[in-house]
Amino acid sequence: MILNYKIEKKSYKATFCHNKESPDIYKALSNLYSDKKMILVIDKNLNKNFTKYLFKDLKKTGLEVNLLRVDGSKINKNKSFLFKILDELIKKKFSKKSVLLSCGGGVVGDVSALAASLYLRGMIYFHIPTTMTAIVDSCLGGKTGINYNNIINSVGNYYHAQNVFISKNVLELIPTREFLAGIPEIIKSGLINNSKILKLLEFNKKNYLKRNYRYLSNLIKLTLLTKIKFFKDDIYEENKRLRLNFGHTFAHAIEMSLKSKKSDVIRHGEAVGIGMLCEIYYCHGKNNLFRLLERLLVHYNLPTSLRNFKKSGYKERLEKNIYKNIFLDKKKISNNPRIIKLIKIGKSQIIEMKNKNRIKQTIKKIILK
Ligand SMILES: NC(=O)c1ccc[n+]([C@@H]2O[C@H](COP(=O)([O-])OP(=O)(O)OC[C@H]3O[C@@H](n4cnc5c(N)ncnc54)[C@H](O)[C@@H]3O)[C@@H](O)[C@H]2O)c1
Repeated sequence: MILNYKIEKKSYKATFCHNKESPDIYKALSNLYSDKKMILVIDKNLNKNFTKYLFKDLKKTGLEVNLLRVDGSKINKNKSFLFKILDELIKKKFSKKSVLLSCGGGVVGDVSALAASLYLRGMIYFHIPTTMTAIVDSCLGGKTGINYNNIINSVGNYYHAQNVFISKNVLELIPTREFLAGIPEIIKSGLINNSKILKLLEFNKKNYLKRNYRYLSNLIKLTLLTKIKFFKDDIYEENKRLRLNFGHTFAHAIEMSLKSKKSDVIRHGEAVGIGMLCEIYYCHGKNNLFRLLERLLVHYNLPTSLRNFKKSGYKERLEKNIYKNIFLDKKKISNNPRIIKLIKIGKSQIIEMKNKNRIKQTIKKIILK
């Protein structure tokens, strides 16, 4: 199965690869007009067998494959990671017609795409997403970025992978936490666009957890089609695309406030789940949509607050930091951060959060309850 879409008259694809080996990947890469050099930027936390087989398959493309292993944890989404890739490209004398293939979660994808866009003002770029968040969300849409000066994605641009490979092998090997953490982004697509997605999640937990490929590929397809629908005519996020940020104003504030030097305390998708609860609560209180979302998050064992993340004696500082970080929202056009107001399933609008007391109340009652 292939999802084809166009951006500014150029064609792009997402290819579902369900064979044990990766013929779709090497077929796409073998037929490329390139200088026959490739850099594979790959997360070193991936299953070793998968890496070994992928490397072997890529050699069959006839391209000279150079391997760059990286640590794709969120704390590494920074300029050192970006320059590590750029330095390697310079050292090995890659050209504009060389290929960068990234294989990893949202972090590896966002940073690699940024490097691919910057090197010689743009080289050939492909991606294999390896977490559920990356598969259903970050792999498409072309947003690249690094975190800089304590602000999430403060440096970045737009650069699209020519082809994104959704691999059955990868789906089978994703660790449970990364597999579940993508669910809130799937729910988001259901809430802003397509109630069928919500039903698929609500009534098919077994299929999800057992990683039934037929079921998963349908769920992923519907979620990616939602994303394509919202971004393809509004790449630079002036209107329609903003709706894909549902939950993200609060989510990013949570992520920035919980940043730990040692490990990734909360996954992006987990924060998006709590963020969507906050945005509904800010607008409507605990209405039916709030209850539906809460039920789905609990159904898949996902967090609905920071209960399990906050340390004791730390609550007041966390509350202040979250409040402060909400005002770093990149969507704001005045001093007020903006959120997505969900009116009903499939209908939303972007609004400014003008009520500071309500923001504080939302942090207290939902995030830190
Ligand atoms: N560009 C976009 O449109 C977009 C959309 C959503 C999220 N994002 C970004 O994506 C990032 C979050 O990405 P994520 O949730 O995919 O997590 P991640 O990339 O931070 O990965 C989480 C952890 O899982 C590891 N990992 C990844 N795949 C694995 C696998 N198959 N097996 C074992 N370990 C694996 C990573 O090394 C890391 O330690 C954030 O930086 C966020 O800003 C971007």
